[in-house]
Amino acid sequence: MIIAVDGPTASGKGTIAKALAAHYGLPHLDTGLLYRAVGRQVATNGGNPDDAGDALAACGFADGLLDDPELRSEASGGLASRVSVHPAVRQALYERQRAFATQSGGAVLDGRDIGTVIAPEATAKLFVIASVGARAARRHAEMLSQGRDVALADIEADLAARDERDRNRSAAPLRPAPDAITLDTSDLGREAAIAAAIALVEQMR
Ligand code: C5P
Repeated sequence: MIIAVDGPTASGKGTIAKALAAHYGLPHLDTGLLYRAVGRQVATNGGNPDDAGDALAACGFADGLLDDPELRSEASGGLASRVSVHPAVRQALYERQRAFATQSGGAVLDGRDIGTVIAPEATAKLFVIASVGARAARRHAEMLSQGRDVALADIEADLAARDERDRNRSAAPLRPAPDAITLDTSDLGREAAIAAAIALVEQMR
């Protein structure tokens, strides 16, 4: 069983993907981390994330980079969003994601193009969304809990800019697969969102 969980930043897709993996006993890959690692590697190399050649050269990052807590930062998310527009970068990361998705026994992957590009044959496809306001509020609370006080308006503006870039790029833009079911988590708490996701997967398998 392959479960594809796609959606915009801070929609709850990561939490849902992790919970589905635990529920079904499947391995989980957060594919955003791969793009974040490429973004960080470009910065380390002193390259330009908007340059396709610099971004491609950073795709050979060391696996250990995936454990760097710095990858979770907003800055890394912004870099990831910039390197991810280059088709050569998406191609370079394809095999790794494809191999993970097709391992025997199944897998859960979350990202932007799992149901459309990486695993179009997935058993269950969820497209997780939430209003910009709800997503910004969650991100804000998460940052406050880490002792970082960033203005809510700045977080909202950053999310909106990232959504815009992810939706409008020509290579694998963020959009639901035709056979995906959309789950809106705007008004759902963590447990309710997870329960709704499990019910949808049960319906699709
Ligand atoms: O999901 P996350 O916020 O970690 O992703 C960071 C960025 O990486 C996204 O804004 C998106 O531009 C890119 N990404 C992508 N395709 C994926 C996963 C992430 O383009 N499958």
